[in-house]
Amino acid sequence: MNAVPKETNQDVVLAADRLTRHYSVKKSMFEQGTVKALNGVSFELKRGRTLAVVGESGCGKSTLARQLTMIETPTSGRLLIDGEDVAGAGRQKIAALRQRVQMVFQNPFASLNPRKTVEQTLGEPLAINTKLGVAERAERIAHMMRTVGLRPEHASRYPHMFSGGQRQRVAIARAMILDPQIVVADEPVSALDVSIQAQILNLFMDLQAQFGISYVFISHNLSVVEHIADDVMVMYFGGIAELGDKRTIFAKPRHPYTRALMFATPALFEEDRRIKIKLQGEMPSPLNPPSGCTFHQRCPYAIDRCRSEEPALRVVDGRQVSCHRAEEVGDEEA
Ligand SMILES: Nc1ncnc2c1ncn2[C@@H]1O[C@H](COP(=O)(O)OP(=O)(O)OP(=O)(O)O)[C@@H](O)[C@H]1O
Ligand code: SF4
Ligand SMILES: [Mg+2]
Repeated sequence: MNAVPKETNQDVVLAADRLTRHYSVKKSMFEQGTVKALNGVSFELKRGRTLAVVGESGCGKSTLARQLTMIETPTSGRLLIDGEDVAGAGRQKIAALRQRVQMVFQNPFASLNPRKTVEQTLGEPLAINTKLGVAERAERIAHMMRTVGLRPEHASRYPHMFSGGQRQRVAIARAMILDPQIVVADEPVSALDVSIQAQILNLFMDLQAQFGISYVFISHNLSVVEHIADDVMVMYFGGIAELGDKRTIFAKPRHPYTRALMFATPALFEEDRRIKIKLQGEMPSPLNPPSGCTFHQRCPYAIDRCRSEEPALRVVDGRQVSCHRAEEVGDEEA
């Protein structure tokens, strides 16, 4: 079944339809293996909304980000930006679509060129992609710096002359300078001091309110997700465990994995927790995927069926969830 509606929905700025990315890796000296880093993921991103993507290290968050920003080409599946199928687009169209989807990385030290001033970093995309003259570019750069909370008189500074938070503001300004529709942010605050994190999160939210941008916001920190998300996508082993409105999911997670993640951040868990799930063990090796539900080796709810039959993503209690027992999860002692 096709997960993307046939009619172009005005409010959907990005749609992933069974997006899949495999990597070929060496298993041993003699054997090639396949890592299914992203395994048929479908979702929609709405205009002006924030979809937070959460999950343990190695679950496929950055792989997803690289497909959405067209840094890589998916192994299969479709990516639609504003209703436009990226796979079918020609080179010129792809270049235009790339402008509409920008990325902010975790570490601004690594993502900014240390030999370029802010003026150069922000000016280059303008010089390449717009017809603005020198004076107009300078004006635009100054305006953007003010917008992200930097002082325009610091335009001639190099990245090392800024604090970590200010550097991330430069990276955000670079992502914003071409007026994108979508920003994919991969752990954009996790490298920053805790005291600075809230400021940068608030900047993201201010920019959204001002410009109506849509965010795919990757974070392993549920407090951050609680602060910034409209919708939440919980990923596990390259797939979607649970997807839906933040309030719905935080009020009563229906996937055992979501519950386990939330158990680690108890202050955020609205429900009176009687069933506590501690996440045990580690994610299985991607070179040796388990049969059935990919979570079954770690799941306290697992039954025989879970070992043989992969659960489909389906709607339960107002969200999508891939668990055979989703109806029971969270209702045991209610
Ligand atoms: N270029 C690559 N070649 C081979 N395997 C890869 C490649 N990129 C990612 N992987 C594998 O794909 C899986 C998903 O990796 P990914 O980096 O997307 O996870 P992540 O959720 O972003 O993790 P983290 O929270 O640590 O950033 C992992 O098993 C990883 O080892
Ligand atoms: S399908 Fe089974 S193993 Fe997988 S999360 Fe649900 S109960 Fe646990
Ligand atoms: Mg990552």
